[in-house]
Order: sequence, then structure tokens, then C-alpha cells
Amino acid sequence: MIQETIVTTIDDVGKPHIAPMGVHLQAGGGIAILPFKPSLTLSNLLATRAAVINYCDDVRIFAGCLTGRRDWPLSPAEKIKGYFLSAALAHAELELRQVEDDPVRPRLICIPIHNVNHAPFQGFNRAQHSVLEAAILVSRLGRLPWDKINSELEYLRIGLEKTAGEREWQAWSWLMELIEHYRSN
Ligand SMILES: Cc1cc2nc3c(=O)[nH]c(=O)nc-3n(C[C@H](O)[C@H](O)[C@H](O)COP(=O)(O)O)c2cc1C
Repeated sequence: MIQETIVTTIDDVGKPHIAPMGVHLQAGGGIAILPFKPSLTLSNLLATRAAVINYCDDVRIFAGCLTGRRDWPLSPAEKIKGYFLSAALAHAELELRQVEDDPVRPRLICIPIHNVNHAPFQGFNRAQHSVLEAAILVSRLGRLPWDKINSELEYLRIGLEKTAGEREWQAWSWLMELIEHYRSN
């Protein structure tokens, strides 16, 4: 199964980096992170052999990272050098155990060494799903045809308009602003 999360890493001088990543849950408890090359998440993980997976329902962070807004509050991790998102509902601190290199998308197999819950899961929300899917479309702009992007956005707007709160509307507006900017250039 793939979980859409925010991965936080640090570089070799301790500078944090946050990026949305779909992480692959493996039988036996391992977690595989698959960054496309080039990636700061990849180079940080290889340098420090550690990362944090943040389970987070504030979709502004997903949309923010895709639209140049990466400055979200962080708190120090407990068992590894690194940080977790202050907005995370839960986080897992990971150690890198194995690298399956690949010219396009290496597979970094990690083991969670410390799991922390911060706040309860609030239930599913369709607008959050719409924002996540729109953020994925944004990450593929230039590779997808416009008619596919337009028809997917039209469908995603249904769940958004029925169920969004303020955070979801703001995240959606950042993504639409970027898409319109890209479309007109
Ligand atoms: C929900 C979601 C899941 C994503 N999953 C991945 C992923 O598994 N691998 C990847 O390389 N990029 C993924 N992306 C795109 C990255 O977040 C984005 O390209 C990011 O800048 C990665 O590069 P970085 O490590 O240099 O920040 C995802 C984006 C979204 C919105």
C-alpha cells in the first residue's frame, strides 16, 4: 500500500527539507521511499541515512511544497537527527537500511525506529483528497495533456465544493494559481 505523506530530511549541515512523497508500506514493517532523480530528499537520505515520515491532514503543506511554500513549523525529532512537522497527526522516525539504486527512481528501504502520535485522525474528507490529486497533477505539469488535466480538475472540484474547509480552499487556490500561470506561459 502507498500512503501519501510528507517526508522531512536534513542535509549534512542540518538544514531541513520537506517534500510530499507517496511511501510504500512493506510486509514486515519496512517503508520504501522512492524519490525521482534528482531529489534533495534522496541526497539528504543518502547523506544522513535518516528521515521522518509525517502523517498529516493539513493539505496546505502538500500544496505549499508544490507551489514554493516550504516554510512550515518543525519540531526536533526524538531518536534521530532531524525534524517532524508540528502539524503532523503522527510521525515515524526512520533509519535507512538498504538502497536499491536506479537511474530514474531508486528505492530507499527504511525501518521505523520510533513512532509518535500527536493528535487523533479526524476521518476522511473528500476535499483533502481533491487537493492531493490536484497536487499530483501539478507535479506532472508538462508531462500530461491539457485535456486530461482539465477533466480531472473538473471532477475533483465536485468533492472540493461539497466538503472543503478554509485550509482546503487555500491549498486548492495555490495549486490553481500555479496551473493558470503555467497555462498562460
Ligand atoms: C501526494 C504527492 C506524492 C508525491 N510522491 C512522490 C514520490 O513518491 N517521489 C517523488 O520523487 N516525488 C513525489 N512527489 C513530488 C515531490 O514532492 C516533488 O517533486 C518534490 O519536489 C521532490 O523533490 P525534492 O526531494 O528535491 O524536494 C509527490 C507529490 C505529491 C503531491
